[in-house]
Amino acid sequence: MNNAVLKEIQGRTGILTINRPDAMNALNDEVMNGLTAGLDEFENNESIHCVIISGSEKAFAAGADIAAMRNYEYIDVYRDNFISRNWERLKTFRKPTIAAVAGYALGGGCEVAMMCDMVFAADNAKFSLPEIKIGTLPGAGATQRLPRAVGKALAMDLCFTGRMLSASEALQFGLVSRVYPKADLMAETLAQARDIAAYSLPALMMMKESLSRSFETPLNEGLAFERKMLYATFALEDRKEGMNAFIEKRPASFRNR
Ligand code: CAA
Repeated sequence: MNNAVLKEIQGRTGILTINRPDAMNALNDEVMNGLTAGLDEFENNESIHCVIISGSEKAFAAGADIAAMRNYEYIDVYRDNFISRNWERLKTFRKPTIAAVAGYALGGGCEVAMMCDMVFAADNAKFSLPEIKIGTLPGAGATQRLPRAVGKALAMDLCFTGRMLSASEALQFGLVSRVYPKADLMAETLAQARDIAAYSLPALMMMKESLSRSFETPLNEGLAFERKMLYATFALEDRKEGMNAFIEKRPASFRNR
């Protein structure tokens, strides 16, 4: 971990907060290495069931760090495996993740939010892919994840124009699943994370694996994978406990196995 990312644990929820207030939380190596280290730690910590990624009230993150990228040449980014090297840990993270977005989520900031499983927004959140304005393209996943999230028409519109989307538009188009007043965003996100984290961790992980597959596979392949995962839940003690608790009209007590 480092100062550019703050780590906190509340119950079974791990929280990583991007912390570069002087640069609108622009995503440099320090931030991305910090996020990667935090995610590694939370993945290995069995008591963590859900992770929140957040920023400040002003900015979730205003994109990749332009000052750092400014003098890069092709050979630098190719040799260093730019983005792929330390941005994509979220892609392989196996527990549920929530991006809690207030303020700007621009370029790479929007892309990091889209790498999370859920995006909750404050009413002051603003999303855009402004890379066209600086002569490049959104290269941390938006050309692939944005059309899947909001459809072709809006994805093309946002990328070609770089225009800003409000929180309510983002909700309307399915980029985020909830919008809260700015002052309530963290409390509401934490409350939701706490509820998710109370469920069986292996069941959550199997569900995430199955949902994530839907983006990678044709329907019948995805359905076959889902069915295997369903069968796998029948090997869980937690599945027995959940069903027994329902029948016995008592709260379930999951042991995460
Ligand atoms: N990289 C580096 N520094 C950034 C930054 C970024 N992406 N965004 C903001 N900053 C810095 C500014 O340079 C400024 O620093 P100084 O005080 O030292 O001058 C500081 O943060 C505050 O920013 P502003 O003065 O610009 O604040 P504002 O309120 O007037 O505007 C903003 C805020 C609309 C977010 C504006 O800063 C902005 O447009 N930022 C750039 C957004 C952008 O183009 N992002 C895409 C980056 S490319 C990318 O992400 C590619 C990819 O896919 C990997």
